[in-house]
Amino acid sequence: MEPEWFQEFDESGYQSVHHAPRLVHASGPRIIENFLDMAHIPFVHPGSLGAEPQTEVRDYSVTVTEGGVEAVGCVFWQPASGPTAVHGGDVAYTYRVAYTFVAVLTKWPVDDAPNFSIMLVASPVDEASCRAWMISAFSESLDAGSFHDFNEAVFDEDIPILESQRPQRIPLDPAAEMHQRADKLSAAYRQYLQALGLTYGVLPALPR
Ligand SMILES: [Fe+2]
Repeated sequence: MEPEWFQEFDESGYQSVHHAPRLVHASGPRIIENFLDMAHIPFVHPGSLGAEPQTEVRDYSVTVTEGGVEAVGCVFWQPASGPTAVHGGDVAYTYRVAYTFVAVLTKWPVDDAPNFSIMLVASPVDEASCRAWMISAFSESLDAGSFHDFNEAVFDEDIPILESQRPQRIPLDPAAEMHQRADKLSAAYRQYLQALGLTYGVLPALPR
């Protein structure tokens, strides 16, 4: 049975693609946090998932769930809202962290195109590298090869950013970095990791 946070995976009318695992020289928290971050999209994925000057991240809702965190109502302008999009428009995302290093995004493109979901799993190899596993679930009406290649190209753009971020272990002290409104989800993710008492891939906040 499919988990409720990845319903499209074996829902009728949907197909799935398992991407080959990628070795990424970044920690699990860095990889998941980047996946949750809308603010980077126009700068790291220009022309496909974003474009300047439309860089504003509008307000959205974040809740702490039983197993992690969830953000809904994430609306963002994109020049190509999906593999078959012919013009730009607002898309809506839902992000869910289901477990520590497992996140799922669901995206509703414009033009009544069917929604799709991508699950990313960061499987630690050592303190500063992971294998990143990605599974996409999307409408049978979409071409699987195009969908696979589109998502691979997007991830190719993320990898150099992930591997160059410092510190490699993300600081969990909210005062350690400047946080903007757009960072609400990553701030909640960091709080969740802190509450778990995680020490891998993070710089835990010290007791005050
Ligand atoms: Fe990205």
